[in-house]
Amino acid sequence: MKVLVVGNGGREHALCWRLNQSPTVWGLFCAGGNPGINQIARPAPYAPEDLTGLARFAAAEKIDLTVVGPEGPLALGIADEFARAGLTIFGPTRAAARLESSKAFAKSVMREAGVPTADCAIFTDAGAARRHVRALGGPCVVKADGLAFGKGVTVCAGAGDALAAIDEAMVKRRFGAAGETVIVEERLAGEELSFFALCDGNDAIALGFAQDHKAAFDGDRGPNTGGMGAYSPAPRHGDAFAARVMDEIVRPTLRTMAARGTPFRGVMFAGLMVEGDRINVLEYNVRFGDPECEALMMRFEGDLAETLLAVAEGRAQDVAVRLSPRAAVTVVLASGGYPGDYRKGLPIEGLDRLEGAEASPAKVRWAMDKVRVKAFHAATALRDATLVTDGGRVLAVTAMADGLERAIAAAYEAADLIHFDGMHFRRDIGRRALTGAQ
Ligand code: AMP
Ligand code: GLY
Repeated sequence: MKVLVVGNGGREHALCWRLNQSPTVWGLFCAGGNPGINQIARPAPYAPEDLTGLARFAAAEKIDLTVVGPEGPLALGIADEFARAGLTIFGPTRAAARLESSKAFAKSVMREAGVPTADCAIFTDAGAARRHVRALGGPCVVKADGLAFGKGVTVCAGAGDALAAIDEAMVKRRFGAAGETVIVEERLAGEELSFFALCDGNDAIALGFAQDHKAAFDGDRGPNTGGMGAYSPAPRHGDAFAARVMDEIVRPTLRTMAARGTPFRGVMFAGLMVEGDRINVLEYNVRFGDPECEALMMRFEGDLAETLLAVAEGRAQDVAVRLSPRAAVTVVLASGGYPGDYRKGLPIEGLDRLEGAEASPAKVRWAMDKVRVKAFHAATALRDATLVTDGGRVLAVTAMADGLERAIAAAYEAADLIHFDGMHFRRDIGRRALTGAQ
C-alpha cells in the first residue's frame, strides 16, 4: 500500500522508519519531513496544516492510508477533510480530537464515562477563578483549556502561584484564545505514566506504557519541555495493569465518545497519575507522544501499516499488536538554551559513528550484544550538504536492549558519539524506573 505520514519531528521519523519496514508498504510519503525522514520517504509538498492540499495530494497519489503525527492538523479537522474525500486516515475527527484540544471537554467526557480524574472547576471569568483559588487556599493545578504547546499547565503550591497563573492565561492572554477558559484542578500526587491504545471508534487494542521526562534537567528540575526522553515498557506496570487501564479508562471513554455521536479513532494517549491502587487520568492526547513514540516504535513488532489500516477501517478486532519484551530508551539531544531561546544552523557531528558505513567500536559491540540503535531526527536541516540543528529538540537517540539498564547504557553511549555546539541532554533518563523512585 501507499502511506502518507503527516508531520516533521522525531515522532514522525520513528513512524516512517517503522512503516518503511512493513512488507505491505511500497510507497511512503511524508508531508513536513526532515533530512532523516527524507532518506526513507518521498516529500509530499504540503504543510501539515494544509488540509485541502494534503487531501488533494492523497487522492491524486492514491494513498491507501494516511497517518497523522501532531495534534494541530487533527484539531483543525484533517480526518474530516479526508473522510469527505473518501480517503482512509488514522486519526480522530475534529470533534473527537477535542479530547485533547479542550481540557474542559475532556473533563466532561471523563465525568460522563466514570473515568477517575482530579476534581475540577471550570472558569471563563478571571474574578470567579481568583475567588475559587483563594477559597481553596492550598495546592492546585491551573490549566488553559486549549492547545498551548504543552505550556498551558501550571502546578501550583498555593493560591499565590495560582493567581499568577490565572493572570497569565486570562488577563495577559499568554496562550491566546486557548486560555480564555481555565480549569482549576485538585493537585494529585503519584507516579506519572503514559498509556497508549489504538482505537477504532468502538473497540481498542492496548499498545503499552511509556514514560516521558518533561523537565529540562536531571532530577526533574528546570522548566517543562516537550519531553527530554522516554522509556518503554514501564517495568513495574505489566499486562494486568494495562488490562485495568483498558477496562477503567480507555473503553469507558470510547463508549462515551461513541454515544455522543463522535466516535474516537486513532491513538488514545492517556496521561495517568498512579498512586498505590488509584489510577487518575491527567489528560488525554489524541496522537502518539513525542518522544514516547520513538521508544514504542523501536519495540513494535509486526506490520505497522497493516495494523494502523485495520484500526482506521474499524477492524481493531482483526489485529494482534505485539511489542518486543525488550526495553527501549530515547534520549533527546537538545539545543543549548532549549526550552528557552537557542541558536539554529549548528553543524551536527558523529551520526556516522551510529548509522553510517564507519565501523566504530560501539557499533561492533552493539552488534555483538544485539542492541538496536537509531537516531531519529527531530529538528535537523541540510545546509550545503551539512546536517545542522533546526530547532529545540534536535535528535531523539533511541536504543533497544535486553533490560532497561542495558538500553540506558546503549542510548547514552550513542548520545556521547554525537556533538553540536551547546548540545544538552538529561543524564538520568530511565533512572527512576531502575531505582523505584518517583
Ligand atoms: P497535562 O498537560 O494535563 O498532562 O499537564 C502537564 C503536566 O502537569 C503533567 O505531566 C503533570 O506533571 C502535571 N499535572 C497535570 N495535572 C495535574 C494534577 N491534577 N496534579 C498534579 N500534577 C498535574
Ligand atoms: N511527550 C509528551 C507529548 O507528546 O505530549
